[in-house]
Amino acid sequence: MHKLKQLSSGILFLIFSSSVFAAPDMAAGKTMAGRCVGCHGTEGNSQNPNFPSLAGQKPAYLVNQLRAFRAGTRENGMMQNMAANLSNEEMNNLAAYFASLKNKSAGGDSALAKKGQSKVAMCFGCHGQGAKGLGVTPRLAGQQPAYLQRQLQAFKNSSRKNGPMRGIANMLSDDDLSAVTEHMGSLK
Ligand code: HEC
Ligand code: HEC
Repeated sequence: MHKLKQLSSGILFLIFSSSVFAAPDMAAGKTMAGRCVGCHGTEGNSQNPNFPSLAGQKPAYLVNQLRAFRAGTRENGMMQNMAANLSNEEMNNLAAYFASLKNKSAGGDSALAKKGQSKVAMCFGCHGQGAKGLGVTPRLAGQQPAYLQRQLQAFKNSSRKNGPMRGIANMLSDDDLSAVTEHMGSLK
């Protein structure tokens, strides 16, 4: 009986101490997001091609990128500074908040977007139908086209490291890159 009691209190301890399963605190995420919206736009919808939108992005992808900036495995001076002092919990809260916001499509050049149509089907397999994102694979729909283009160039020249995306980016010519990214930006 004594053993059983010990065991069950051990299990309870595990359940209540597990931060892995702690629900993110959206209100805390919203408050902290005040530090981000100067660049990433009101409610995470960027109006500036220098900065990606975060609204409606997949939370697991956002957390992964914040951790990569903090670890220095994804390089960008501004974001490495921003992420340096964030805890895992703060990252989870920020990610949950931005993921909950509605993405307002950035739009794209319509002639180029039409040209890109035939090339995007293969992207949907990983990026989700309509490129709305899937787990750790990001939403591309409605993202700033110039930002997406820079990331594809970064995969090509390996300044941003990712196994599958390097190979895929290398299959696209510079013309394909602009057509595909204008297409993604114009999706809602
Ligand atoms: C001074 C401007 C600035 C501020 C403030 C800023 N960011 Fe960024 N952020 C950027 C830039 C620039 C990039 C694109 C980096 C690149 O090109 O790789 C970026 C990229 C990101 C990405 C990757 C998005 C993607 O689609 O891969 C995430 C996630 C992110 N920022 C989250 C945040 C959060 C959360 C905050 C607030 C705590 C924040 N940022 C504050 C400039 C900023
Ligand atoms: C085999 C799966 C796979 C396929 C197919 C794929 N992607 Fe990706 N893509 C990924 C993953 C995974 C990431 C996240 C990489 C990371 O975590 O840094 C990504 C990231 C990206 C990014 C960076 C987005 C951001 O917000 O920074 C762009 C741009 C991109 N993919 C474009 C494309 C395009 C365009 C296609 C089709 C031509 C495509 N991908 C096809 C798996 C895939």
